[in-house]
Amino acid sequence: MDTALITGASRGIGLKLVEHFLAKGLAVIATYRGEPSESLATLAQSDDVKLHPLEVTDESAVAALGETLSTQTIDILVNNAGVIGPEAQARDALSSDAWLETFAINTLSPLRVSHALLPSLRRATNPRIVTVSSQMGSMVHGGVGLYAYRSSKAALNKVMHVLSQELAEDGITVCPIHPGWVRTDMGGPTADISPDESAAGIVELACGLTFEKTGTFFTWDGRIHPW
Ligand SMILES: NC(=O)c1ccc[n+]([C@@H]2O[C@H](COP(=O)([O-])OP(=O)(O)OC[C@H]3O[C@@H](n4cnc5c(N)ncnc54)[C@H](OP(=O)(O)O)[C@@H]3O)[C@@H](O)[C@H]2O)c1
Repeated sequence: MDTALITGASRGIGLKLVEHFLAKGLAVIATYRGEPSESLATLAQSDDVKLHPLEVTDESAVAALGETLSTQTIDILVNNAGVIGPEAQARDALSSDAWLETFAINTLSPLRVSHALLPSLRRATNPRIVTVSSQMGSMVHGGVGLYAYRSSKAALNKVMHVLSQELAEDGITVCPIHPGWVRTDMGGPTADISPDESAAGIVELACGLTFEKTGTFFTWDGRIHPW
C-alpha cells in the first residue's frame, strides 16, 4: 500500500486530499497545526490515516517529523499548507514582517518539509513531491496587488524547479501544481471549482506521475501550466 503525506490537512483542499487518497487505496499521513479539525479527526478513525501535528514554519518540528518517519516509506509528499498572506498587500501598505511571514509559510516551508522527508521518500520506488502552488505565481498570469502571495508562489515555483534538478539523481519527481480557483476559506464562495474537484484532480495526477515529468508545473486537471 502506497503512502501519501499531506501538510495542512485540517480543512480546504488538504482535507479533501486525505479523502481522495484514501479512496484511491493509499494510506495517509495527515499533518495539522493546533488541534485537528473534527472532519480530519473523523477520517483518522480509519487505520489507514495517521495524524501528526506540524506547524510548517517550526524548523525543529519539521526536522523531528522527518526523523520520526525516517524508517517509513512515503511515496507521495503533498506540500499543501499555505496562506494568502496579510489583508493589506497593496504596494504602499504591505508590512515587511507580514510579507516575510507569507514567504516563511508558502516558500521556505515546502522546501524544508521536502528536505526533512527525503529519507522516507528515498525508500519509495516512485517517490513524488507535489507542491500546491498557484497560477498567481506564474509569469503569464496577469493581475495586480496581492504582492506577498503572488511573489511567494512565484518563488515557490522556482524553489521546486531547483529541487527537481537536485533530486533527479535520486529519481524523485518534483512538480508544483496549480489547484484551480477553489471554494475554500482561501478561495472564497464564488471560486470556480469545489475542493472535491480540485483534490480529485490532484490525486489522479499525483498517483499517475512518473519521473519523466519532473520539473513540470501542472494544473489540477493534468494540463501543463506555463511558468
Ligand atoms: N483556494 C484556492 O483557490 C487556491 C488557489 C491557488 C492555490 N491555492 C493553494 O492551495 C493550498 C491550500 O489552500 P486552501 O484553499 O485549502 O486554503 P485554506 O482552506 O485556507 O487551508 C489552508 C491550510 O493550510 C494550513 N496552514 C496554513 N499555514 C500553516 C502553517 N504555518 N503550518 C501548518 N499548516 C498551515 C491551514 O491550517 P489551519 O487550519 O491550522 O489554519 C489549512 O489547513 C495553499 O497552498 C494555497 O495557496 C489555493
